[in-house]
Amino acid sequence: MPSSPIPIPVSASHAVAASASPSYTSPKPGLKNLHPVENVDLRLLLLENISQEAVAAFRVQGFHVDHHTKAMSEDELIQILPSYHAIGIRSKTKITARVVKAATKLIVIGCFCIGTNQVDLPAAAQAGIPVFNSPFSNSRSVAELVMGELVALSRQLFERSYELRQGVWNKQSKGCWEVRGKTLGIVGYGHIGAQLSVLAEAFGMRVIFYDVLNIMPLGSARQVESLDVLLADADFVTLHVPELPETIDMISKPQFALMKKGAYLINNSRGKVVDIPALIDALKSKHLAGAAIDVFPVEPGSNGAPFGDQLNPWASILRTLPNVILTPHIGGSTEEAQRAIGEEVSLALTRYLDYGSTVGAVNFPEVDLRAVPEQGNNIRVCHVHKNQPGVLKLVNEVLSPYNVEKQFSDSKGDIAYLMADIADVSLQEIAQLREHISSTSANILTRFLA
Ligand SMILES: NC(=O)c1ccc[n+]([C@@H]2O[C@H](COP(=O)([O-])OP(=O)(O)OC[C@H]3O[C@@H](n4cnc5c(N)ncnc54)[C@H](O)[C@@H]3O)[C@@H](O)[C@H]2O)c1
Repeated sequence: MPSSPIPIPVSASHAVAASASPSYTSPKPGLKNLHPVENVDLRLLLLENISQEAVAAFRVQGFHVDHHTKAMSEDELIQILPSYHAIGIRSKTKITARVVKAATKLIVIGCFCIGTNQVDLPAAAQAGIPVFNSPFSNSRSVAELVMGELVALSRQLFERSYELRQGVWNKQSKGCWEVRGKTLGIVGYGHIGAQLSVLAEAFGMRVIFYDVLNIMPLGSARQVESLDVLLADADFVTLHVPELPETIDMISKPQFALMKKGAYLINNSRGKVVDIPALIDALKSKHLAGAAIDVFPVEPGSNGAPFGDQLNPWASILRTLPNVILTPHIGGSTEEAQRAIGEEVSLALTRYLDYGSTVGAVNFPEVDLRAVPEQGNNIRVCHVHKNQPGVLKLVNEVLSPYNVEKQFSDSKGDIAYLMADIADVSLQEIAQLREHISSTSANILTRFLA
C-alpha cells in the first residue's frame, strides 16, 4: 500500500523557472508546474543558430543549453549527443538511425523549421523519441506575400519596374486594375487560405474558396461546391493545398481553360500542384494575364545555384514571359516567421520534457492530460511502449494500489504512449514503480514528472 507521501524536491533552477516565466509553460493559478523527477538537470543541444529567444526560453525553464551556430555531421553528433537529453536543429543537421542509436539519453528532437525530412522519424519513434516541428508559424507571411502579388500582378508592377531599371519610361493604364471589387478564389482554406481571406476582404475583394472539407467561412467569404465553379468565377486563383497524390497537377490544361480570360494564377503552395507547361501555354496565348510562382517541382538545393532547364526543362521559357513573378520559395521566409518557429518549437519541447504532452509530434501518438492540481502529491507517469497486446493490463496492475486520477493512451504504428496521473505517491515508491514498469517487455521509455 502507499506509504505517507513526502515532498518531491524540485531543482533550484526549476524553482526559479516557475516564477520567472509565467507566460511560457506555467499553468494557470492553482495548477502544478511539473518537472522530470529522474533528470532535473536536462541538457539541450541547439544547433544551426537557433534563435536566442528559444535559448532564453529554455534557460528560464532551468535547462542547461549549449548553443552552436553551425550544423554538425553524423560523426560529430554520434560523439557529442550521448550526453544530451534534447536537441534542436534546422534543416542541415541529419539525425540518422546511427545518431539515434548512439544518443542513449535523448528524449526529444525539435526541428526549428517546417520540414522533418532530415530526421529518421521511424528510428526516433522506435527509440521513444518524439519529433516536433512548426508547420504553421509562417502562415501569415505567406498570406501577406499573396496580397503583394495580387496588386503587383494586376498593376504589372514588375514589368514597369524592370523597364524603368533599363531606362525606359512606359506609363500606362491599359490592362492595369485595382483589386477592389475583384473576386479572389482560394483553393485550400487552411491556415494560409483563411488568413488570406481576411486580408483580401480588407482590400475590398470578394472572396470565394474551395476545400475538400466543409469549413466555416471567415467574414463574408463563401465556400463553393467545386474547383470548377471557383475557376469559372475568380479573377485571381491562389493555391493553398498540400502536395498529395490528388493535388499533383491539380491545375492543368482543362483547369486553365475553365479560368476567365484575363485571370491570374498564384501558386505559393507546392510546385507539383501546377502543370507548368500548361501554364506556359495559357500565358503565351494570353488567356491568363499573369502568374506568380514561388514553388517549383524541382528546386535548387542552395542559394546561388542556377535556376535553369537542367532542373526543370521549361525554366528558361518561363523566365521570359511577361507579367510573371518568379520567387525562390520565399513565401514563409520572414524574420517574424523565424521567431514564431523558435517560440512554437521551444514550447513543444518544454511541454514534452516537463508535462509529457506529445500534441503536435510528427512521428508519435498525440497524447496529453489535463493539468495537475497544485495541492497533493500527484505524479505523472509517461510510458512509451511497443504497440502490442496486454501492455495496459500489466501497467495498470502496477498502478492498481494507487488512485489513478486520469490516464490516456494512444498508438501510432508500432509505438504506443500512455500518460497517467496518480495520487499520493512518495519518492521511494516512484523508484519501485519505475523498476516495475520499465521491466515490462514492451517498455521503451518510462519517465516520471512531479
Ligand atoms: N511558399 C512557402 O514558402 C510556403 C510556406 C508555408 C506553407 N506552404 C505550403 O502551403 C500549402 C498550404 O499550407 P497551410 O499551412 O495552409 O496548410 P493547411 O493544412 O492548413 O491547409 C490546407 C488546406 O487544403 C485543403 N485541401 C487538401 N486537399 C485538397 C484538395 N484536393 N482540394 C481542395 N482543398 C484541399 C485542406 O482541407 C486544408 O484545409 C502547403 O502546401 C504548404 O506546404 C508554402
